[in-house]
Amino acid sequence: MVFEMIDNMDRLIDTSHIKWPLCTFQHRDWPSTKIYDRYSYELSSESTLGQAGGNWGDHFTSGNPHKEKQKPYFIIADKLGLENYHVLIQTQMPGQQMAMHLDGGSRKRYSYLSDADHKSELKRVFVFLEDWKEGQIIQMGDHNIAHWKKGQVLAFDWTAVKHGTANFGSHERPMLCVTGTKTTKWNDLWGDRHNKIIDL
Ligand SMILES: [Fe+2]
Repeated sequence: MVFEMIDNMDRLIDTSHIKWPLCTFQHRDWPSTKIYDRYSYELSSESTLGQAGGNWGDHFTSGNPHKEKQKPYFIIADKLGLENYHVLIQTQMPGQQMAMHLDGGSRKRYSYLSDADHKSELKRVFVFLEDWKEGQIIQMGDHNIAHWKKGQVLAFDWTAVKHGTANFGSHERPMLCVTGTKTTKWNDLWGDRHNKIIDL
C-alpha cells in the first residue's frame, strides 16, 4: 500500500487538553482490524456507562489485539512513550454511538496508582485504523473530529475533555484506544507542536 503524504504537518488542534493529530504512524503492512478476543468489560467504569446509557457492547465492539497477528498495535503504545499500557480495538458499527461522557480513566485497572498519580500519569489516545468514511464523527469538547487518515493519533486529557462518537455511515469505524502511564518520550510528543510521522 502506498502511504499518502499528509499536506499539513502541523497540528489542526493544539490546546492544553487536545492534540490533533498528536502524531501519525505509518506502516507498510498494517495488521487486520479483526477482533479475535472480545473484551469482557469487567474492568470498565460504571460511571461511563451511567453517562452514556445502554449496556457495554451497544456503543462499539471491543477486543484485545492478538499478541502475534496484531503485534504492531502494541508497538504503537511503546512508540507513544506509554508504559503499563492497555490496548483495545474499538470498532463502531454503522448505527452505533457513544453519548458524550467524561472518562472514568480505567480506575479499576490502574488501582495501584494514587488518586493524584492517576490523574497526572495516566494518558489516553485514539489511533485510527482506517481512513475516515462519511457519517463517522468524534466530538472532543467543542471540536468535531472527522476526515482522519489511518495511523493518525488523537490525544486528549481524559480528566478534562468530554467526548462522544457516532457512526451514521455505512462502514465500520475501527480504532485503537490506548491507555498507559507516561514517560519522557510521551512528554516530548505532547510538547511538540508538529504532527510527527513515526514509522512502525
Ligand atoms: Fe471515553
